[in-house]
Amino acid sequence: MPVYCITGTNRGLGLKFAPQLAQSSDNTIIATTRSLDSDLTELKTCDTGNVASIHSFVKEVAQLLGGSRKIDVLLNSAGVNLGSSQSSLTLGPDELHKQMDINVIGPAKVVELLLDAGLLSSDVRILNMSSGLGSMQRSSEIKPRKCAGYSISKAGLNMLTVHQSEDLKPHLPGAVVIAMDPGWVKTSMGGDGAVLEPHESIGGMLRVLHGLRSEDSGLYYQYNGDRIPW
Ligand SMILES: NC(=O)c1ccc[n+]([C@@H]2O[C@H](COP(=O)([O-])OP(=O)(O)OC[C@H]3O[C@@H](n4cnc5c(N)ncnc54)[C@H](OP(=O)(O)O)[C@@H]3O)[C@@H](O)[C@H]2O)c1
Repeated sequence: MPVYCITGTNRGLGLKFAPQLAQSSDNTIIATTRSLDSDLTELKTCDTGNVASIHSFVKEVAQLLGGSRKIDVLLNSAGVNLGSSQSSLTLGPDELHKQMDINVIGPAKVVELLLDAGLLSSDVRILNMSSGLGSMQRSSEIKPRKCAGYSISKAGLNMLTVHQSEDLKPHLPGAVVIAMDPGWVKTSMGGDGAVLEPHESIGGMLRVLHGLRSEDSGLYYQYNGDRIPW
């Protein structure tokens, strides 16, 4: 009876994970959004750009799971791409700070606070939703370069993944943390020109997740299971 926790399920990839996971009645899904402005009262609030909101979310999860169950799979999907026309020569500090808050500090604090509350299972799988634009090698090959601030924040998320994979070991020896590029997917962020339907990307990511072994912790994958160069 695995417990899945997903951030950023208001729309986009986060939202599309739920139906595929719900196909198995064994799965418990804790779906979270930045705020509760819909009729979906089963959702939990977790603004991953706000540490106080993550604290209250963790308290809610503790009540929900009641001490006997823990999170088996954490999907850190919430993310933003702000000021996408900015280059490294025109970076807006506000946009960069916000992307670091949501894309890097958010997944760091979600993991830290769930761990502190004893809510992660001993062999938890953690997927940090990165991007091909977080790859130094891939970004260096794109001309003209694009989305400088977003790319910098996803490279930061990749480095967070490397650190989390080692730092979790003394606490949860079986934990596996990976950075994942979902591919270029038709969502509001990916746009209509994207090449993948959400279900294709999500199906691939779930296959990768379910096939992970302990030695895969700290690695960087694409939705189809290929490794990505850092
Ligand atoms: N689509 C692609 O081609 C693509 C490619 C590479 C990587 N990614 C990554 O995949 C992830 C999902 O992207 P997407 O395509 O689904 O983007 P999207 O359609 O723009 O959806 C983003 C989701 O993240 C949520 N979110 C943003 N800030 C949040 C916050 N502070 N707290 C909680 N939720 C927040 C949004 O909620 P609101 O509705 O409240 O804003 C929304 O549900 C992101 O991390 C993105 O960087 C996507």
